[in-house]
Amino acid sequence: MSLAARDITVGYDRKIISEHLDLEVPDGRFTAIIGPNACGKSTLLRALARLLKPKLGTVLLDGADIHGKPAKQVARRLGLLPQSSIAPDGIIVADLVARGRFPHQSLIRQWTAADEEAVVSAMAATGVTELSGELVDTLSGGQRQRVWVAMVLAQQTSIVLLDEPTTFLDIAHQIDLLELCVRLNREQGTTMVAVLHDLNQAARYADHLIVMKDGRIVARGNPGEVITAELIEDVFGLPCVIITDPVAGTPLIIPGRAAA
Ligand SMILES: Nc1ncnc2c1ncn2[C@@H]1O[C@H](COP(=O)(O)OP(=O)(O)OP(=O)(O)O)[C@@H](O)[C@H]1O
Ligand SMILES: [Mg+2]
Repeated sequence: MSLAARDITVGYDRKIISEHLDLEVPDGRFTAIIGPNACGKSTLLRALARLLKPKLGTVLLDGADIHGKPAKQVARRLGLLPQSSIAPDGIIVADLVARGRFPHQSLIRQWTAADEEAVVSAMAATGVTELSGELVDTLSGGQRQRVWVAMVLAQQTSIVLLDEPTTFLDIAHQIDLLELCVRLNREQGTTMVAVLHDLNQAARYADHLIVMKDGRIVARGNPGEVITAELIEDVFGLPCVIITDPVAGTPLIIPGRAAA
């Protein structure tokens, strides 16, 4: 496994969020992390991306402690879309997306045609090309979210971690983005990890699920095996029935007491 957590304990100051967590991110697959608000999903993702140092244990990237590697080296291998980001004042879309190329540059290696191509194709893939000259501050929530995704894609890493990438997006843009994740995964072999709140989308688009509750991983595996009415009731306190999605063949959760 290229990215793994070994017995990590993570938290903030004296507050422990997850203890003794073990996790292998399956290479070349699309993993969705699901779980209730405040269960520790973003905290885990930040630890996997080297932004948060575990209090105990180790995050391994390519077999070595991620905290022993320079940030720039990690950023060429792994990209993270945080749950919320603040753009620098007065920056335009194209310049923000171009920041995704920073890890690839150095004093001797300045902006190249490959950088330009990465930015142009990331903007096209996320549908923000027409916004390239706009101020990021003046965009709608969904437009801005797609610009941040473009920045991560422009980084062209073989591991991509996305924290709620579909937030703020209308239904068509949500599906576009999830299909883009699937394409990156299938066509380029990119290892995708996304925190998703829409369980049906997670079950449909991801091929591996990690289910969290109270800082613990309570289930993991193929959506068809992991998603059961008992698990959803236990993790979310939500009675439901599970049927098979007539189109995708994946589990489809019908929530509510009436249904159950
Ligand atoms: N910077 C911080 N300082 C202190 N506590 C934090 C910090 N960030 C998060 N927490 C706490 O850690 C716990 C887990 O938060 P986290 O953001 O990982 O949850 P989450 O599963 O991503 O939730 P959501 O679905 O709402 O995004 C919460 O109780 C939260 O209050
Ligand atoms: Mg979160």
